[in-house]
Amino acid sequence: MKGDITSRQDINVLLEAFYAKAINDDVIGFFFTEVTNLDLVKHLPVIGAFWENVLFGTGDYKGNPMQVHKHIHHLSPFNKAHFDRWVTLFQGTVDELFEGEVAERAKQRAQSIATVMQIKVIYGGIG
Ligand code: HEM
Repeated sequence: MKGDITSRQDINVLLEAFYAKAINDDVIGFFFTEVTNLDLVKHLPVIGAFWENVLFGTGDYKGNPMQVHKHIHHLSPFNKAHFDRWVTLFQGTVDELFEGEVAERAKQRAQSIATVMQIKVIYGGIG
């Protein structure tokens, strides 16, 4: 039986599985391998802190994800299909590994942050 996301360790497991897919994905993989050269060893603690903050209100994430993705967008433009794929992969990975209230919240937050990110990054809206 699958359990819920209850700890930073669970977040790490989720993110490792997600990035393993994202990096090899036909639609968005090139952002991680060609547009930027993702160093997962450096990146996972940063994004883990981000998700710990989103899901549990803890974690020491101090970055600005909108700014980071605006920068990537200038290097190689994002479109809606990229964000849709990101959300599908993320939610699919959550469902494969976890089940419960926090898992549901993770999927909802992934969708809502991706939506805001698209508006800000692609269309330049809302600050
Ligand atoms: C089209 C969809 C997306 C693509 C292709 C993408 C790709 C990337 C890449 C290439 C980086 C930079 C890694 C590096 O440091 O070299 C990054 C950073 C990051 N991404 Fe995304 N991303 C997407 C959507 C999202 C969404 C929807 C979220 C949140 C729900 C998110 C959260 C983050 C965070 C927290 C960072 C780290 C920012 C920092 O360094 O402070 N990404 N992403």
